[in-house]
Amino acid sequence: MEHKDSSPQTMDTLVSLCKRRGFIFQSSEIYGGINGFWDYGPLGCELKRNIRDSWWRAMVRRREDVVGLDATIIMHPAIWKASGHADGFADPMVDCKACRHRFRADQLCEEHGLALLRTAGGFALPPEVKCTHCGSKDLTEPRAFNLMFKTYVGPVEEEGAAAYLRPETAQAIFAQFRNVLETSRQSVPFGVAQMGKSFRNEINPRNFTFRSREFEQMELEFFIRPDEAVELIRGRVASLADKPDLSQPQDDWGWEVWHKYWVEQRMAWYRAIGLPAASLVEYWQPKAELAHYARACVDIQYAFPFGVQELEGIAARGDFDLTQHHKHSGKPMEVFDEQLKLAAAGMDAAARAAFTQRVTDTWSRDGRDPEAARAFAALLLEGKYIPHVIEPSAGVDRLALALLCNAYAEEQVAGDKGKTETRTVLRFYPSVAPVMVAVFPLVKNKPELYKHARGIFDALQRRWCCFWDESGAIGRRYRRQDEIGTPFCVTVDFQTLEDGTMTLRDRDSMQQERLTLEALKERLDGLTA
Ligand code: GLY
Repeated sequence: MEHKDSSPQTMDTLVSLCKRRGFIFQSSEIYGGINGFWDYGPLGCELKRNIRDSWWRAMVRRREDVVGLDATIIMHPAIWKASGHADGFADPMVDCKACRHRFRADQLCEEHGLALLRTAGGFALPPEVKCTHCGSKDLTEPRAFNLMFKTYVGPVEEEGAAAYLRPETAQAIFAQFRNVLETSRQSVPFGVAQMGKSFRNEINPRNFTFRSREFEQMELEFFIRPDEAVELIRGRVASLADKPDLSQPQDDWGWEVWHKYWVEQRMAWYRAIGLPAASLVEYWQPKAELAHYARACVDIQYAFPFGVQELEGIAARGDFDLTQHHKHSGKPMEVFDEQLKLAAAGMDAAARAAFTQRVTDTWSRDGRDPEAARAFAALLLEGKYIPHVIEPSAGVDRLALALLCNAYAEEQVAGDKGKTETRTVLRFYPSVAPVMVAVFPLVKNKPELYKHARGIFDALQRRWCCFWDESGAIGRRYRRQDEIGTPFCVTVDFQTLEDGTMTLRDRDSMQQERLTLEALKERLDGLTA
């Protein structure tokens, strides 16, 4: 048998498979659709559910230092003022005055192989740029367009009732930081994870589900001690130069090591759910690209057919977010750290003064306010600080798309009567496959066999997502499952009635073997645990 794989060269093949087999539909399709919104059909929602479950298991259930949160989509609008989204969460937009087409200014420039120009007041288009829709050069100046969806809470549409659909799940974690800390028996370092819908009114949604206006995020805010607190407690701060062993967190780690630790954890997770290392890129943003509050940011990117694009950003955000909420809400976001208090209590006046001086000098060298440095040092010496944070932030929809792209293959195989035929197969890892096992009765007109097969189906369905198919030749039933990525098919035949064994057919090797229900359950357990 000849195996010749090909990934989808363009998105068209995949988009059509997704629609034909019920992975992804255009939202509101019967009314002509709505741009930037997508619905997940029976298979797509199982795929997404498996992604979410896998993330939650890896990030929350299997860790002692992370707890979960499920917050509302609409929150007090002051949250977005504090976070900076109300004033700064905007993309530059331009309109073509001739055909009225609207573009994201940076994307329009990119299409001309140019970069958007920064000016004192905002942005400007390079003179060569024209409308890619009608060719006109009559374009408006780029102007900021806030990406948050606005709505009104209650019956009156007035500014005082304005609220926003969340553009990220992260802010609720900061806003609920105190409640979680006080109720979860966690202490720094620890994390809070949340997944859920977020909304961004993208100027140009594109690349199928990759850039949508409604999407799902999986975010972790992992709170750590500031390096200065680590230094006081441990006498030193481990950095990457020490080449630390990243397998187990250590209490001398500074932010740089924690950040690298999370990059490694996340890369390992992507590999574990089936994205090959060679398809993933770890892009360390250069300093000039970083948001002003970020100390470092790594994008985990995947090589999609439309280009290498971000699946997840892992940012070291310092104490920016909690400090903003501390200032805006008036509620203290400092934590009390017993170990820090003990370390500080053991210092004499000279050591305290030297520590304060060191902090002030470092901050001054970085152009930061020396007065704030002294206040920070004084707080540390009382055993308190506002935690810093590392934020791994991933998109469910992007990942579902990456898994679909990665799984897609066309092969030339020997079909019935020895003729070569093309087999379309989705090679999902079992842990994310929408259907784990399909069960077929060999024939449907033998009541005893049929009933036995139904019993096997019911037993498997208690634990795994299963599919029952009793129609057509077995070969056709296999092909239908291959095309939706079902790793295993079980055929119940006359021998099953005699010795309890059934035929298990493997999607990738297309090999068959006979085994009992118990042996099958054990096999599947090992693949999904
Ligand atoms: N919280 C980061 C993001 O939504 O991109």
